[in-house]
Amino acid sequence: MNNKSTRRKIVAGNWKMNLNSHQAMELVTGISTYLENAELPKHHEAIVCPPMPYLFLVSNSISEELEGKLSVGAQNCYPEASGAYTGEAAPEMIADIGCQYVLVGHSERRKYFGESHDFLAQKVNKLLQTGLTPIFCCGEPLEIREAGTHETYVATQLRESIFHLDATDLARLVIAYEPVWAIGTGKTASPEQAQDMHAAIRNLLAAQYGDELADGVTLLYGGSCKPANAHELFSQKDVDGGLIGGASLKADSFTKLIEILNEVG
Ligand code: PGA
Repeated sequence: MNNKSTRRKIVAGNWKMNLNSHQAMELVTGISTYLENAELPKHHEAIVCPPMPYLFLVSNSISEELEGKLSVGAQNCYPEASGAYTGEAAPEMIADIGCQYVLVGHSERRKYFGESHDFLAQKVNKLLQTGLTPIFCCGEPLEIREAGTHETYVATQLRESIFHLDATDLARLVIAYEPVWAIGTGKTASPEQAQDMHAAIRNLLAAQYGDELADGVTLLYGGSCKPANAHELFSQKDVDGGLIGGASLKADSFTKLIEILNEVG
């Protein structure tokens, strides 16, 4: 099995808690201008995930002509439709302002906000009910990598937060493998390390849901991915693009990543 050429290919920018509104607009305008002129296959897509206060501004600025080519995602949500949850944003609200994606399970949310497997499962359920696509993040910290138990660790993350889904729902997810030791550290997983984990994830999906479904799921790599290393990473047979932090904050490096993904096919 391996159907790399037909899987959806994605470069997603996680802006985290960076930029002001002016910079956010400048960045999305730069990306839009590039995409308006770029010849990309239909199954290639760029996603930007701005901070919550700029979500509407950014999504509102994207022309209809870029539908399917440039989408907007939120970095977080709360798994309820409405109610007394001060400071939170419902998936319905995120959908209402034109977003299509939401990051779930990013290691920074797990670490700084103590988000549990169960809470992440609730978010995934609610997002799917709302018609949004979760980008489900998994990945091991350094000590787990050093102990050599990273595959078991990631398997637990998947089992506990997404393997309760039926096949139709699971097939709607995008999964991002982000080794925590590579996030924002300048240290990247080697192409082999990324491929090995992506293959392990695809095997887990196949064991749970069958080969055909596993073969169709888009698996992104994240963790210090940038133009200088993206070619090798994106060329791996189970890597379908990237979830990008630092290198997504400048239009030229982000669009370069889109170009590289297009080159490797
Ligand atoms: P980085 O972040 O590219 O800055 O390492 C990736 C991420 O956290 O999504």
